[in-house]
Amino acid sequence: MAPIPIISPINVGHIDDVIELSKTKPDTIPQRFVRDITERPTIATLTPNKAHMPIIDFSNLSKHNTHELFLHELLNLATACKNWGFFQVVNHGVDLNLMESIEKMSNEFFMLPLEEKQKYPMLPGTIQGYGQAFVFSEDQKLDWCNMLALAIEPQHARNPNLWPKKPEKFSETLEEYSREVRKLCENLVKYIAIGLGLKEEAFDSMFGEAVQAIRINYYPACSRPELVMGLSPHSDGSALTVLQQAKGSPVGLQILKDGIWIPVHTLPNALVINIGDTIEVLTNGKYKSVEHRAVANENKDRLSLVTFYAPSYEVELGPMPEFVDANHPCKFRRYNHGEYSKHYITHRLQGKKALDFAKIQTRNAF
Ligand code: OGA
Ligand code: NI
Repeated sequence: MAPIPIISPINVGHIDDVIELSKTKPDTIPQRFVRDITERPTIATLTPNKAHMPIIDFSNLSKHNTHELFLHELLNLATACKNWGFFQVVNHGVDLNLMESIEKMSNEFFMLPLEEKQKYPMLPGTIQGYGQAFVFSEDQKLDWCNMLALAIEPQHARNPNLWPKKPEKFSETLEEYSREVRKLCENLVKYIAIGLGLKEEAFDSMFGEAVQAIRINYYPACSRPELVMGLSPHSDGSALTVLQQAKGSPVGLQILKDGIWIPVHTLPNALVINIGDTIEVLTNGKYKSVEHRAVANENKDRLSLVTFYAPSYEVELGPMPEFVDANHPCKFRRYNHGEYSKHYITHRLQGKKALDFAKIQTRNAF
């Protein structure tokens, strides 16, 4: 099996393509994918158990609704952000046909021969193109996942050579889909701001020209799902993340709530939203960016399309004064978001460790 070409000073060794590996239905999983005992998804978390993740009806937030309905949903949103950091949005306004098209084309892309996909290689240390992200060493365990990651906005961040030419119309469809998801993100940050008692443009004006990227994750079925991790535990380095799970995909996303990994059962046509590190910093920890991961399934492949919405790289960020007082000491230093992004993508995914970059270390008095 052809390895992903490595033209980089980082030595990451041979990286098996997971989709190809899965086709061979291996009896034994290659060691690089087998997690240490403490990092394996336990059987308990692999059994479905209904999570009651909050559901937000976005149509109730649109201006044409009664004030009462608006306030009711706004409170739901604020409570979801505070208590969960994750919620599902229905009636979100993203065209359902477009969601279906991008899903179908993404599936088609991943089903192309490996040689075709390797025309868009994700080089070690980068996060655009097709392959495995966040791999920095030869002895690092690999995720049971292949991904296609692309910068969407600003336009100059795109690498046009990495936009797949097949399937036909993929790029145009992705462009159109991303425009609609961006509108949703712009509206969401407005409502989140209002729910926090801030001006509606509080986040938007701070973000500058928001950065947008997409990661399309393909998790092939795995004969030993209890040994591998689909996507390592992490929090997102974005302000907000929008996840679309493909129709017919098995449950795979899990979030860490009160120390327990909870599987996320997505509603048909809903989008899953989560708070990223930026909003945790801006709200001085009032809203948290929750750790999550993806697990593999024994019988079924899974596809997810994940959009990251974040401030412009030029922006300086820190906790807003509204969230800092005697009872809520400042938890994060000010930093440049571009530097944070660089820090995030040059380290392997490791729970919420990336945020240590901005944490103010408090000394224990004893
Ligand atoms: C991500 C992510 C989860 C999933 O791409 O950041 O958390 O279910 N994905 O694919
Ligand atoms: Ni994530």
